[in-house]
Amino acid sequence: MHFMTMRVLSGLAFVPGVLSAALSPIPIDSRSLSDIYAAAQKENGVLRVVHGGDEKNQADDLFNAFSTKFPNIKVNHSVELSKYLDGRINQAFLQNELYADMAILQTLQDYDAWEEKGVLLNYKPPSFDKIWPSLTNPNGAYLPIFAASFGPFVFNSSVVSAGDIPKSYADILDPKWKGKIVLTYPNDDDAVLYLFKLIVQEYGWEWLDQLLYQDVQWVRGTATPAEIMLRNTSKTISFTTYPPAEGWISVAPVSDPYMSWTQTSAIFKDTNLPETAKLLQAFLISEEFQVSRGAPSVRKDVGNSTIWDAKNTDYVTFHQFMEDRDIVEQWRFVFEDKIGTAQGLNPLIDDIF
Ligand SMILES: *[C@@H]1O[C@H](CO)[C@@H](O)[C@H](O)[C@H]1NC(C)=O
Ligand SMILES: *[C@@H]1O[C@H](CO)[C@@H](O)[C@H](O)[C@H]1NC(C)=O
Ligand SMILES: *[C@@H]1O[C@H](CO)[C@@H](O)[C@H](O)[C@H]1NC(C)=O
Ligand SMILES: *[C@@H]1O[C@H](CO)[C@@H](O)[C@H](O)[C@H]1NC(C)=O
Repeated sequence: MHFMTMRVLSGLAFVPGVLSAALSPIPIDSRSLSDIYAAAQKENGVLRVVHGGDEKNQADDLFNAFSTKFPNIKVNHSVELSKYLDGRINQAFLQNELYADMAILQTLQDYDAWEEKGVLLNYKPPSFDKIWPSLTNPNGAYLPIFAASFGPFVFNSSVVSAGDIPKSYADILDPKWKGKIVLTYPNDDDAVLYLFKLIVQEYGWEWLDQLLYQDVQWVRGTATPAEIMLRNTSKTISFTTYPPAEGWISVAPVSDPYMSWTQTSAIFKDTNLPETAKLLQAFLISEEFQVSRGAPSVRKDVGNSTIWDAKNTDYVTFHQFMEDRDIVEQWRFVFEDKIGTAQGLNPLIDDIF
């Protein structure tokens, strides 16, 4: 119920943006992808794109698909934690330098700050009007490109029987899960932090105290729990990762709230390759790319389900959470106090296995 209310509230919060969209002078690009490709090929250079993530190969599918479709475009992409990429981008701005032409990040608060500073290129690719308005920026300063979430239980379906699948975060406190759970530190990743905030708001801090008796293996990175479960069959469940292979599944809790967001992409205004950057934006919200990501899509007209179908998650509220850095920091340090500082190898630098 309270999620319905939150959605209504978040709808209201976005009304000013919606109004300014009506007055916004930025037209939707009416060119076809091949016309934009032709314009992009007249530019000279390598498009530098940074992508938030916690494994080097996490964006390979996206950039391979782009390069296969547009072989004459040179792209150099790199994957790093969003929370460090934004710092590097801002540091470079202080020296009047551009760290990248485009940024595809999880740290959604950055986009509003950058829009306010006037460093983003407003651009509305073809089909901009098909994107859910509450997810996007009315001026085209940034675009949601795909849906992501943490909270669903992830396990090998031939290891966890149907009857054992947890239905809630209370179920995970059952002694039968002791020693079997692998989770990402909530104090090392703001998306995981928001998930833990939602759970604590549902069950109270007692939930975390009891979870700590379950001998949880805490790790850095959200791909790491899946990697560990693949290699250590004693570890069987996580809810801060995604299925690593065929035969692994992800099941959302029945009614407990969990977190979700839309990974977001923007072009920096000072890029030397504006048409090339526009081509990537246009590709990312094209029907072809949206279908390839699987459901749900950021577009209203792609797929058989929408991002509003899941009743216990909300793709808008994470953005609002991320805006209030004081609150984020307060939550982070309460978790850090209880769980400890994030230990372990940096999944981006060290080859863990
Ligand atoms: C790609 O970008 C990275 C980071 O800026 C840089 O170290 C690397 O040399 C670049 N690679 C190419 C092929 O341009
Ligand atoms: C799932 O678990 C079964 C039983 O332990 C194992 O044989 C299989 O290889 C696992 N599947 C994957 C993809 O890890
Ligand atoms: C696998 O998990 C079990 C149970 O928690 C643990 O005792 C064991 O040390 C782990 N094995 C490895 C190789 O990490
Ligand atoms: C929609 O559902 C139909 C039939 O269930 C399926 O064939 C099709 O691939 C689905 N489309 C998408 C985009 O998922």
